[in-house]
Amino acid sequence: MTVKIRPLAAGNWKMNGVTASLAEIAAIAESAAGIGGADVLICPPATLIAQAVAAAAGRIAIGGQDCHAKASGAHTGDISAEQLRDAGAGFVLVGHSERRADHGESDAVVRAKAEAALRAGLVAVVCVGETNLQREAGQTLAVVGGQLSASLPHGATAQNLVVAYEPVWAIGTGLTPTPEDVAEVHGFIRRELVDLLPEAGAVVRILYGGSVKPSNAAELMAVENVNGALVGGASLTAKDFLGIASVYE
Ligand code: PGA
Repeated sequence: MTVKIRPLAAGNWKMNGVTASLAEIAAIAESAAGIGGADVLICPPATLIAQAVAAAAGRIAIGGQDCHAKASGAHTGDISAEQLRDAGAGFVLVGHSERRADHGESDAVVRAKAEAALRAGLVAVVCVGETNLQREAGQTLAVVGGQLSASLPHGATAQNLVVAYEPVWAIGTGLTPTPEDVAEVHGFIRRELVDLLPEAGAVVRILYGGSVKPSNAAELMAVENVNGALVGGASLTAKDFLGIASVYE
């Protein structure tokens, strides 16, 4: 049985964007009606979330890029999932490779954050992916499988969980895996999801991320079990992001 999955075109602004950049979000939101075949999400820096929600005018979703596992408390500089929700976010990325590398986030930490997202009523976008060394050592599926089984939140459903496969070596480098390689990993993730989440695994969205651009989006988004994109650099301007999302017009 083939199940129809509504794709998600998501942008991750990382540590980029100031108030002037809200015009890009407004422009993306204005064009969202034309992207009828997918949901659209932008994850700006936390400083812009509330204003981005206003600029989005309900036409696209706004998300955070990380959250703390706890709801509140003495954690200077951190932001809870509840606070993101209060600012109007509907999603939060957890376990992005830059968080795993820069902040030493383990799978257990990522799972706690994903569970915090669910507790707060946010959709958790759990990111997984192998490094170049791991790929060259033939460990890609083992690494991705390990990350999935150890970082997916308890209580996940197709409504509150999205998985993003982002090979670390493809992020910000202009390099991408071949469509065959993407198909292999996404097919593997689908089988693992069905195994781990018997009810939801067949319909949880699996995004591909890592150097997605207008020029390669159609090819990558056409791969089986690719249910959307997580876009970094090319999500910073409405022109480039819409060039990608237009795959889903
Ligand atoms: P990139 O980043 O599109 O700039 O490669 C993707 C990501 O890290 O989410």
